[in-house]
Formats: sequence, C-alpha cells, structure tokens
Amino acid sequence: MTARVHTVDVIAGDGIGPEVMSAAVSCVDAIAPALGFTMSWRTREWGSDHFREHGRMMPVDGIDQMSTGDAILLGAVGAPDIPDDVTLWGLLIPIRREFQQYVNLRPIRILPGVVSPLAGVKDLDIVVVRENIEGEYSEVGGRLYRGQPEEMAVQESVFTRKGIERVATYAAELAQQRKGRLISATKSNGIIHTMPFWDEVVQSCVAATPGVTVESVLIDALAARVVLKPESIDVVVASNLFGDILSDLAAAAAGSIGVAPSANLNPPRRYPSMFEPVHGSAPDIAGKGIANPVGQIWSAALMLEHLGEHLGARVLVEGIEAALEEGVRTPDLGGTSTTEAVGAEVIRHCTRMLGAGLPSGWVLAGS
Ligand code: NAI
Ligand code: MG
Repeated sequence: MTARVHTVDVIAGDGIGPEVMSAAVSCVDAIAPALGFTMSWRTREWGSDHFREHGRMMPVDGIDQMSTGDAILLGAVGAPDIPDDVTLWGLLIPIRREFQQYVNLRPIRILPGVVSPLAGVKDLDIVVVRENIEGEYSEVGGRLYRGQPEEMAVQESVFTRKGIERVATYAAELAQQRKGRLISATKSNGIIHTMPFWDEVVQSCVAATPGVTVESVLIDALAARVVLKPESIDVVVASNLFGDILSDLAAAAAGSIGVAPSANLNPPRRYPSMFEPVHGSAPDIAGKGIANPVGQIWSAALMLEHLGEHLGARVLVEGIEAALEEGVRTPDLGGTSTTEAVGAEVIRHCTRMLGAGLPSGWVLAGS
C-alpha cells in the first residue's frame, strides 16, 4: 500500500483563527500515522497582518500557489481596524470564486452534551446547502451621488440556470442519501424575477432525482420553523444570502456558532475545495485561549472526508463527541476549558479509539 499524502494549504488568518487552527492541525496529525496517511501542510501567513504590511490580504499569485494543493483549511479572517468588505473580498470570496467552490455545505446538529438555547429543542440535524458563488453577493451595481441628498446604491443579484442547477442537483443527491426530503428556501412572493426562476430550476432538478421530494418554503417562514420545529427540516438548498443567514441561525439553535463547520466544495474536483468553521475571527475573545475549536476540528473532518479519508473523518467527529460528552467544553458551551484543553481531549479520545483497535464494521481506507 503506498502512503497517501495530502497537500493542504493552511490559512489560519486573524483573531481566534490561529488558536483554533492549531488545535485542528494537531488533531489531524495525531490520527494520521495510525490510519496510513500523511499531511503535507503548507502554512500561508495571509490575512489582516499581510494586508497591513503589503496592502493585500494575500499575494497576487496566491490563487496560483494554492492551485497545486488538494484542499485548503481556513480559520477566519476579519479585523476591527480593516473594513470587512476588504478582508472578505480580498481573500475568502476570490478563493471561493476562482476555485469554483459553488457548494457551501453546512451540517448542523446538536452534539452530545450540548444544550440548545431554545427550550424544548432536542432534535436538530440539518444540512444547509448554500449556493456559494453567485446570487445576492454580486459585484454588479454601483453607488451614485455620494454624500448628496440624492445618493443612491444599486446591487444586482445574479442567478444563472447553470448556477442553480448545479447546487440544486448536489442538494437533491444529498437528500437522496438522507431522508429524501429537500426544502428549498425561496421568497417568490416578494422577489418576483429571480426567486420564481430559482423555484422552477430547483423543481426540475429534483424531478430528475428519484426518491426525492421538494418543499419550497418562504425564507421568513423557514427561519421561524428552524426555531419552532427544527426536527421537520433535513436538507435545505438556499441562495447565497438566504443560506448564509439560515445556517448561522440553525448553528445558534444547535448550541453555539463555535461548533459549526463548513465546506466550500468544487464537486467536479477540478480545483481544491476549502474547509472553514462558520464563525468569524471573534475579536472579542481573541488571544484569551478560550475559543471553541470544535467548528475548526469538525471542518478538518469534512476535509478528510473529501480527501477520501472516511475513517479519519469519523474518528475525529467521534473524538469531538466524546470530549463534549464528558464535559470538556469552552465557555461558549457553558464550560471552563481552554481551546488547547478541548483539542488535547479530542486527541486523547481519537488515539484511544485507534489504539483499542477499530470498532467492528469500520474498514481502514485503502485496505
Ligand atoms: P464572529 O463569528 O467572529 O463572532 C460572533 C460571536 O460569536 C462573538 O461573540 C464571538 O466571541 C462568538 N464566537 C465566534 N466563534 C467562536 C468560537 N469558536 N468560540 C467561542 N465563541 C465564538 O462574528 P462577528 O463578530 O460578526 O465578526 C468578527 C469578524 O469576523 C468580522 O471582521 C467579520 O467580518 C469576520 N467574519 C469572518 C468570517 C470568515 O472568515 N469566514 C465569517 C464571519 C465573520
Ligand atoms: Mg455567515
């Protein structure tokens, strides 16, 4: 068996990014030898410090440098002294677009030992499939008459048949592997051109996927449903803006934004995909050593899954669950543990699982 080597670009970024990244990289390194693969991490010191020094979030050829890798693991970017549109459009959005990462996958569930802030909510297991490179986050538009009473701004949404089709097909196939129920977030009552088009294209993609039904739900009603009846939701497909908001809402309902992972996928695998926690750089707690590393470690698990290391992904997720279950939690989950302590506990559980031999039914990748 030849050793599997995965080349991954690591952009820890700003604020709590480097703190949670350190925990996640240690977890992956800790399980790799026992599972027969090696990580080749390429550390990229990009982000707000790079911007202060060079006037750019990443080098001009940053995208080219990463194009030879297998995946990208990102922490978070954003700093209080730099406008958020500069940090976002200087790094994250170019990576998503240049690498055609048109699916943003956000699995959200209540992890063991974590209590939802919503009374009575115990059962929440949702995957949001967010369109990631078009829709409402477009560069088409402009601003006129700055500072004058007539000042105005126009921002156009861009929805293409191809763009909707590829994300809806991905979501329908995911729903097929789960419960066969897809919810499509819409607003075709108020947004009368793009949203009816979205609905039509989603319907036709679902019709082409056997065993899957789709329910189109207005985004406002869907937001209420996440709070009131989350157990009635399985896979959701949504536009860029709706998916962004809905996944933060669902993550908060599941306990903390600090545990939520995401994958920016290029499903045809022509370009590297990028894995990052849903949360931002959290300047309010940066440097204190108390950031929850679970979202970052779970993102690393999604990355291993994408790289074909299915068992590694499973070990990491079970390690996270075991650590949380025994009460090793950061303050956002009501605990008193540090970022480092949670990372160490996840590693302890993972190595215990691997050392005890594989649970029955688990098959080592490549064997
Ligand atoms: P945020 O997600 O950084 O923080 C929101 C709240 O959640 C804060 O109270 C924070 O302390 C808490 N929180 C977030 N992650 C946590 C973790 N792992 N453990 C414990 N608590 C956690 O969002 P915010 O404050 O709106 O944005 C801060 C900066 O991050 C901004 O510059 C923003 O643009 C950027 N940002 C970057 C993202 C990315 O890199 N993908 C995503 C979202 C925001
Ligand atoms: Mg967001």
